[in-house]
Amino acid sequence: MAEQLRFDDQVVVVTGAGGGLGKAYATFFGSRGAKVVVNDLGGSFKGEGNSTKAADVVVDEIKKAGGQAVANYDSVENGEKIIETAIKAFGRIDVLINNAGILRDISFKNMKDEDWDLIMKVHVKGAYKCARAAWPYFRKQKYGRVINTASAAGLFGSFGQCNYSAAKLAQVGFTETLAKEGAKYNIISNVIAPIAASRMTETVMPPDVLQNLRPEWVVPLVAVLVHKSNTTENGGIFEVGGGHVAKLRWERSSGLLLKADDSYTPSAILKQWNKVTDFSKPQYPSGPADFMTLLEESMQMGPSEQGDKVDFKGRVALV
Ligand code: NAI
Repeated sequence: MAEQLRFDDQVVVVTGAGGGLGKAYATFFGSRGAKVVVNDLGGSFKGEGNSTKAADVVVDEIKKAGGQAVANYDSVENGEKIIETAIKAFGRIDVLINNAGILRDISFKNMKDEDWDLIMKVHVKGAYKCARAAWPYFRKQKYGRVINTASAAGLFGSFGQCNYSAAKLAQVGFTETLAKEGAKYNIISNVIAPIAASRMTETVMPPDVLQNLRPEWVVPLVAVLVHKSNTTENGGIFEVGGGHVAKLRWERSSGLLLKADDSYTPSAILKQWNKVTDFSKPQYPSGPADFMTLLEESMQMGPSEQGDKVDFKGRVALV
């Protein structure tokens, strides 16, 4: 039988751990030997109100099962207080799971600044503040594991979720950079786009679908990614839920490369638009540096007759 992944003596901070996915992470890590900080503001899924109950219930559950946990009731916007709870209670932090989240769904036409700002505050600033406060500890001990939480809404867009989509794709860029900056200190950061039954999804998905999306089924991937044995899977983007796990990456068409001079006109691009959108020989960029290679190639190209006047359908046009 395969050995169980254990987290003995490690300190795991889970934000938004009073319910849904966060609770599933917290109880799992509590059952695998970790000391858990159960953070939850205890408000509504729209970010209204607060209560200590959500976190307390999960702490009690972990303790009753023989684990170790403390509660923290701060908003993730005050991430330093959450990390301080870990340090005061357990003297260290090894794993940070940025999971807390809310929704403010509304069509873009009707969106108010308040809907936009609150989502940015909880998701973007919240993840930043928690990671920022944990970072010095991670660097000093040359060990840290971070999970940030994106969403399919962020990766692909989703009607009525402009604010949430923007905040969730921000998690990807944030994670990619943390992965690059943390690598030499053995700080590994990955980002997940989960799907699970929770109060967030119970109003938008039918009961029979929700039955197959238990939050517990997101946990195994997270456990693998934050375990000490994972030293290579860094900066990964994963979709996970209902027993399915898949990795995503950016794909770029091999593209159109033209001499960047006076002949580089709109019609020059239109003339070869099929090359811009041709994914038959895809590239998988992983950083800004490889673009520089393309730039150098373009600079070395000779002048060309790229200024023919054509439109998207290849017709001659007055452009
Ligand atoms: P949930 O609503 O059950 O859990 C979120 C928890 O975060 C709640 O307990 C809430 O009190 C807490 N929270 C909210 N604002 C907070 C703040 N400022 N500070 C501290 N805690 C706060 O929702 P669920 O589904 O478990 O979501 C967890 C994460 O997964 C969220 O980031 C969500 O956006 C993301 N997600 C969930 C999906 C799903 O299918 N359930 C899909 C894609 C992403």
